[in-house]
Amino acid sequence: MSDAGNVLVTGGAGFIGSHVCKRLAAAGYQPIVLDNLSRGFRSSVKWGPLEVADIGDGARVREILNRYRPIGVMHFSAFTSVGESVQQPALYYSNNVGATAVLLQAVIEHGAPPFVFSSTAAIYGNPASVPVDEDHPHRPINPYGRSKLYVEHMLADANQASGLPWVALRYFNAAGCDPDGEIGERHDPETHLIPIIVRAALKGSTVSIFGDDYDTPDGTCIRDYIHVNDLADAHILALKYLARGGKSCGINLANSKGFSVREVLATVERVCGRPVAVKIDPRRPGDPAVLIGKTERAKELLGWSPKRSDLELQVRDAWNWYENFLPSV
Ligand code: UFG
Repeated sequence: MSDAGNVLVTGGAGFIGSHVCKRLAAAGYQPIVLDNLSRGFRSSVKWGPLEVADIGDGARVREILNRYRPIGVMHFSAFTSVGESVQQPALYYSNNVGATAVLLQAVIEHGAPPFVFSSTAAIYGNPASVPVDEDHPHRPINPYGRSKLYVEHMLADANQASGLPWVALRYFNAAGCDPDGEIGERHDPETHLIPIIVRAALKGSTVSIFGDDYDTPDGTCIRDYIHVNDLADAHILALKYLARGGKSCGINLANSKGFSVREVLATVERVCGRPVAVKIDPRRPGDPAVLIGKTERAKELLGWSPKRSDLELQVRDAWNWYENFLPSV
């Protein structure tokens, strides 16, 4: 065991989970990755042991908890594509909600240590106004967002029933990559905007813009992009917050600045120095027009603010990863 203790990281072979593991190790914790590798990558697990297991397998999860005795749990393992969730809702409810219930039961039996949950701004749905704070009505417009909201409800119930301390970190659009290039964003297939555009710039392929008739200045959707390392920092702060008795709640993690799809395209072209061909396709079902977050709560409760979330920097880190590192991992 390391100085600060073991932390169980479900989905630690995935994009955000692996970046959090690197940060946990740097902060003196030992990340224990529990991942079924259905969407994560063995090569992204570099800072602690990997237990290849499914969170829905209660017996395996109990055995891992008993063996490592974690002082906290960070729960990332979930399917995360809005579009896919609209096509395959049952897959999202069984993996993101059903399997999480099994994990939660085992964690409660293990003594209910602090639980940091990877939630999403998708729980807000189409915002009544932006930026959205945590008290904005929770009205998700796609199964992905609903699956994450149901877990937040489960956590609140578990807190009432068993005293489980929890924080749900509601990410806006996670982007960027480890600036050292040790890990980065890897999805197969890739559905996220920044990696799609960066890869198109590298390969000379065409990017589809999903709808240019939204009620926004240039007609394309506006999102709030936040660097994955800023997200990673917030997880460690959240663990410490819960360890010192902080109140369980949802907390936004955002950069509080919105960029349209076209603005992201222009930024990638500028950073990469290459033009990117585009075509306009129909809207993608489940997409809100604008999502921008307010982060006063993260500042107040966690002492967190984004440090690396300038859009150009996020694109630069992604470009560095795709150009120099991904082909070799
Ligand atoms: N987009 C395109 N073309 C593409 C890919 C995306 O036009 O090839 C558009 C989307 O329609 C959307 C925007 O780019 O308007 C961003 O799309 P992403 O797929 O990158 O991200 P989402 O906003 O759909 O979702 C992300 C995370 C979710 C999270 C959400 C919260 O994947 O987990 O941000 O803001 F819930």
